Amino acid sequence: MQLFIDTANVDEIRTAAGWGLLDGVTTNPTHIAKSGRGFEEVLLEIFGIVDGPISVETVSLDAASIVNEGRAIARFHPNAVVKVPVMIEGLKAVRQLSSEGIKTNVTLCFSPVQAFLAAKAGATYISPFLHRKELAGDDGISLVREIRAIYDRYGYRTRILAASIRTVREVLECLRAGADVATMPFDLLESLYKHSMTDAGLAMFLDDWKKVPPTRLFADLAAAR
Ligand code: G3P
Repeated sequence: MQLFIDTANVDEIRTAAGWGLLDGVTTNPTHIAKSGRGFEEVLLEIFGIVDGPISVETVSLDAASIVNEGRAIARFHPNAVVKVPVMIEGLKAVRQLSSEGIKTNVTLCFSPVQAFLAAKAGATYISPFLHRKELAGDDGISLVREIRAIYDRYGYRTRILAASIRTVREVLECLRAGADVATMPFDLLESLYKHSMTDAGLAMFLDDWKKVPPTRLFADLAAAR
């Protein structure tokens, strides 16, 4: 499963990219607004940090305008993925953009049937919103499971990009359900690496290491610094 970061904060993106396991970025209008920077300026910096798929969202409501925005986003950078909300005009636009070879990410998906329509329209990615569904009292992870079953059953190649993820548990459930990608905020991405027992075990090992006589092997490394 690929790991994407869901933000337009370039400091967070740079730090997460430095960890070596980041495959891509998803942005949305809220993230761009929060960055407090100009749209093109912040995008240019993000594309310079991560060499992978970067979703950039359209903001029009009619298909012709969405297609025009999508073409502009695609022209902006070869790694751009045009993010389009799931709605009739959006899926008309996705069909057109995909026929032009432009990659798309159909977003704000809350039902398996919406995901089916996105696949029929030729979407590259579908973004089911897990945690927002949980917050509404629904089973967010079963949405990913059902989309996986439908896509496998009918051979759709649209990739499942699980979004709106807020907990480590939800990341684990995405792995179990067969999501192709999980996108998440910086803090959650960072917490995937952590476990209190790892910290306790490491502290014990380092404490015990103090009882071992100095080794020439590591002394040589220190001298080389
Ligand atoms: O960017 C799409 C999505 O991941 C946003 O999720 O619910 O954390 O705002 P949320």
